[in-house]
Amino acid sequence: MSDALNYLVKARPDAMKAYFKFLKEADNHLDNKTRDLISVITKVAVQTENGFRQYLTRALREGCTPNEILDALLMAFPVLGLAKIVWAVEILLDMDIPEFRPERLDETPRWHDVSEADAVANGTTARVDCDGRSLFLHQVDGELRAYDSRCPHQVTNIPDLALEGTRLTCPKHNWVFDMDSGDCVEKGDRPLNQFETKVENGRLLAYW
Ligand code: FES
Repeated sequence: MSDALNYLVKARPDAMKAYFKFLKEADNHLDNKTRDLISVITKVAVQTENGFRQYLTRALREGCTPNEILDALLMAFPVLGLAKIVWAVEILLDMDIPEFRPERLDETPRWHDVSEADAVANGTTARVDCDGRSLFLHQVDGELRAYDSRCPHQVTNIPDLALEGTRLTCPKHNWVFDMDSGDCVEKGDRPLNQFETKVENGRLLAYW
């Protein structure tokens, strides 16, 4: 929540309580995807860059596909106009989310051959690239985990340098993650995205 809203909550608690109740109940009859897409469009309409990045990340996390998000932007053309749609696409390009690349828009999830199954020793982490995406491989108690290098906050591609032992710190807003659990342990409230994995013929495969 912004500093201004925090201020109003303290200065006008009753009015703000009613406001938040209204917001909470206004979308009772919408499914999650529709709600998320409308939220993305509202952020484009008012051109709030941080809000757009955040709601876009949430829409993807909740299952909206890049094609659905692009369609929602284009369908809102009568209210957004081309300039705001271009503004949003420029931010999308800056975020460089692999799934938005034109050649990948129609891809369906599949297994990807990531590395040797014993590429990472117990208790250690390695950042690897695979099929246009980066992952942090981390072994804990004999289990090899594959985490998305994209931050669950605003999809920042977290670099290798952000790793210190089992702590991974996103450089954008300093959310800190524990590699053993994937949980966010400082600043934020969402865990790293973890891919389903399996081992076949000595190779680690991950599903996305
Ligand atoms: S993008 Fe905000 S903490 Fe990573």
